[in-house]
Amino acid sequence: MIENNLWHPVAQAHEVADAPLGVQLLGQSLVLWRGPQGQVSAFVDRCPHRGARLSMGRVENGHLECPYHGWQFAGSGQCTRVPALPEFTPPPSQCVKAFEAQEAYGLVWVRLEQGVQALPVPAFAAEADAHLRKLNCGPYDVAASAPRIIENFLDMSHFGFVHEGWLGSRDATAIGSYAVQATPTGVLATGCKAVQPLSNLHSTRAAEVEYTYEVTAPYAAVLTKIPEAGSTRAGWHESIALFICPVTPETSRVWFRLAVADFDSPDEQLQQFQHTIFCQDQPVLESQQPKCLPLDPRAEMHSAADRLSSAYRRYLKASGITFGVC
Ligand code: FES
Ligand SMILES: [Fe+2]
Repeated sequence: MIENNLWHPVAQAHEVADAPLGVQLLGQSLVLWRGPQGQVSAFVDRCPHRGARLSMGRVENGHLECPYHGWQFAGSGQCTRVPALPEFTPPPSQCVKAFEAQEAYGLVWVRLEQGVQALPVPAFAAEADAHLRKLNCGPYDVAASAPRIIENFLDMSHFGFVHEGWLGSRDATAIGSYAVQATPTGVLATGCKAVQPLSNLHSTRAAEVEYTYEVTAPYAAVLTKIPEAGSTRAGWHESIALFICPVTPETSRVWFRLAVADFDSPDEQLQQFQHTIFCQDQPVLESQQPKCLPLDPRAEMHSAADRLSSAYRRYLKASGITFGVC
């Protein structure tokens, strides 16, 4: 499964503290924990001795200790101690399966198998811009597949209905032409325009907003929106990255990473705006049937306004993605 070779976000970095944390990725249960130098390790959440859940254990002397018979494991997965046999040195074969893990964007990322793809870095976006303030919003546990959630993020024609009075209105629903192109890591759409009553936290009036969207990995995307001058704070700039953990084919854990030219509003206020918008999306997302995103173009109907989502579906198909699609 090609998804196993990709990096996926599994938890907020600060959640992995003194105690082990159980998470789920691509249908697998994992345990995350921090070693003595603060490095994060990710193991199968199942002790190789008698199958107990390692995330119910604890971190002892820089090792992960199983809750059942106290076997201890180093960050590499090697068993280092069997308390019932204090003199015994476990051989290299006595180990738990460990995965690659790293921290980025305030999240812990894991991949289940070796791969060539780097983290889904938003190429054009503000993450590269050290001047913008970054903060995360989430997690949201959503009963929808990761590809359905990405597609919703790329979709402008729902603004007037799902986000009426915020990102759209029923009397301005037309979607103009925009450009879509394939990139080495996904899809890029430019020149997307929407009239929005309340485009951002500081909007003072309805305005036309120009969007750029980029899919940077099968379950990651980023947008940048630039509102008409004079409709919000001078110098306002924002990018929103969407990072999704594909938990099961039909459930996901979602984070937004905001990058904004706003250095004084409290975190909560910036997060609240994004929270309000996503809470409008979530019930519709969870209502969609089938829950997995159909990649056969004949399975659902499309309009010309949907060409970004059609390009996203073609990209998933060409990438060989099977998790969360049908
Ligand atoms: S089940 Fe883990 S030590 Fe026995
Ligand atoms: Fe939406």
